[in-house]
Amino acid sequence: MTSSARFDQVIRDYTDDEARRALVLKWGTADPDVLPAWVAEMDFAVAEPITAALHRAVDEGVLGYPVFGHGGELAEAYAGFARRQFGHDVDPDLVLPVADVTAGVRLALDVLSEPGPVVMPVPAYSPQLAVPQITGRERVDLVVDPDDERAGIDLDRLDALLAGGARTLLLTQPHNPWGRVFTREELEGVRDVVVRHGARVVSDEIHAPLVLPGAEHVPYLSLDGAADHAVALVSASKAFNIAGLKCAQVVCGDAATRDLLAGVPLARNDSWSSLGVVGSVAAYDEGDAWLAALRERLGDQRDLLAELLSEHLPLARMRPLEATYLAWLDLRAYGYESPAGQCLTVGRVWVAEGADYHPGLAGHVRLNIATSPDRMREVVRRMAHALGAA
Ligand SMILES: Cc1ncc(COP(=O)(O)O)c(C=O)c1O
Repeated sequence: MTSSARFDQVIRDYTDDEARRALVLKWGTADPDVLPAWVAEMDFAVAEPITAALHRAVDEGVLGYPVFGHGGELAEAYAGFARRQFGHDVDPDLVLPVADVTAGVRLALDVLSEPGPVVMPVPAYSPQLAVPQITGRERVDLVVDPDDERAGIDLDRLDALLAGGARTLLLTQPHNPWGRVFTREELEGVRDVVVRHGARVVSDEIHAPLVLPGAEHVPYLSLDGAADHAVALVSASKAFNIAGLKCAQVVCGDAATRDLLAGVPLARNDSWSSLGVVGSVAAYDEGDAWLAALRERLGDQRDLLAELLSEHLPLARMRPLEATYLAWLDLRAYGYESPAGQCLTVGRVWVAEGADYHPGLAGHVRLNIATSPDRMREVVRRMAHALGAA
């Protein structure tokens, strides 16, 4: 049995027509002859328990306001998921809903952090580069050297930035776009520096369910001594392809933090959606088998990408992809300042420009591998043609 046959029963690939209808941003805004491999959405149908729960909810008219406040069904479902998936005991009473992860990051900075600068490891998830400024804070970049294969957080530099007045670290772990899963030792190193300066951590863990075979996610809040200075942002949206439902969660380490967040005027926390709650509860409660199949499938795609690169783009360097379906490719050897622009114009393949994640960085792209093996072959073939490697 081939690997795709193994997963076909669980993970269903969209046809191009289905993808164009379902993924209105990723596919719907691409010209008909362009293969889209940019924004972080998967070319796979949503898991059946989620669509079934959504159909039921629509039939029953669950289209009013969601329940406000912490705890409840959504929080219980996340706590169960965190226990099974990460071995992490979360108190449901410390979990609050937010509209999405980025809104939660904004809220956490706004409500919990002192007004000082925010340290942002860069490259970073591009829309969040603007979040410090939106909350009235300066962003200070902790830049990862593009030649550093391992892409770790430089603790001396973090120490210096916090000593210089920064008050918050915006940590993304697992990391997009580095593809890194930080180890417990690495995270403890980060914690020690942060605690030394009495600073805070906002830990964006949206990609935690997408840790690929061979790595293990360590929730920041599971570290000793993290509870009073950190919150985590979690969501079913990325791993289950339901970003449009608008529902994420803030996990607090203690009741004092929870009360600060729960106490903000409603107008400050854009509301999540009732259907988002329904979809997230179904994903957390009933999505384990689908998720396990997805991770295997993505692990196979990662291996296939490595083969395709060595065959068609041998000068490309790929960071080891430990989590996510977003590969970070160093294409500087092909000599294009904007390889994504070249790929789109000449190859008719849409990948994300590296400079969007790391302002000023030339020659890199982020490639979305959550698609069929055939499409990925075609993506790499088109990239190689566009970059003059084929
Ligand atoms: C690290 C990270 N955080 C947040 C998001 C977006 O999440 P949301 O749509 O819930 O704001 C993404 C999307 O890809 C992401 O990669």
